[in-house]
Amino acid sequence: MTEEWKKRWDDRYQEKAYAYGVEPNDFFKHQIKQLQEGQILFGAEGEGRNAVYAAQLGWKVEAFDISTEGQKKALHLAKENNVSIDYHVGFLPELDFTDEQFDAIALIYAHFPPPVRSEYHQILNQKLKSGGTIIFEAFSKKHLEYRERNPKVGGPANIEGLFSLEDIKRDFPDYDIELLEETEVELNEGLYHNGTGSVIRFVGRKR
Ligand SMILES: C[S@@+](CC[C@H](N)C(=O)[O-])C[C@H]1O[C@@H](n2cnc3c(N)ncnc32)[C@H](O)[C@@H]1O
Repeated sequence: MTEEWKKRWDDRYQEKAYAYGVEPNDFFKHQIKQLQEGQILFGAEGEGRNAVYAAQLGWKVEAFDISTEGQKKALHLAKENNVSIDYHVGFLPELDFTDEQFDAIALIYAHFPPPVRSEYHQILNQKLKSGGTIIFEAFSKKHLEYRERNPKVGGPANIEGLFSLEDIKRDFPDYDIELLEETEVELNEGLYHNGTGSVIRFVGRKR
């Protein structure tokens, strides 16, 4: 993973406004409310909108990302909302999470770089307790067409950075699937997710 990639995200998060807003993602909000609070890990959590929401609901929250600027804004958002989150900056293989530590893992637009994506998913699988839940929403491969029509909807511009239903089944084989779908979504999230897109949604319970 290059310095250039990290800088790209730091530059985005150096802007004053929250890139994807301060409200949680709609799908995440709906799903998390159905779970009993416990420990949750957020991958690629950026400026913390989902992590802070979970903390407000009473979850013990940890998050990671490569962006120090994202971390700063996430901690600021947590403070403003009188909650605390534990936010780690670094590469997942070097971070010290315990196996079977978490009751839930949230991957919301966690478009990890394609060469490490499956490896990251395998590590995350180990960090989830048996019976724990993954909540996942990210752009699907069909999204490229939507992005071409309306660049303001955002998302990766390369097909390898996007997801298919098969990618999810392959990377998360040991789960009972509660939801797995490819669907259109209307996004109104801050400056960079605006308009109609195509996403993969997955909710799975680890066996
Ligand atoms: C589209 S943003 C999503 C942020 C957040 N999950 C949200 O929904 O608001 C993608 C995030 O992935 C992070 N990211 C990219 N590569 C990463 C990596 N290798 N490890 C951790 N985070 C990464 C970026 O820094 C960025 O914050």
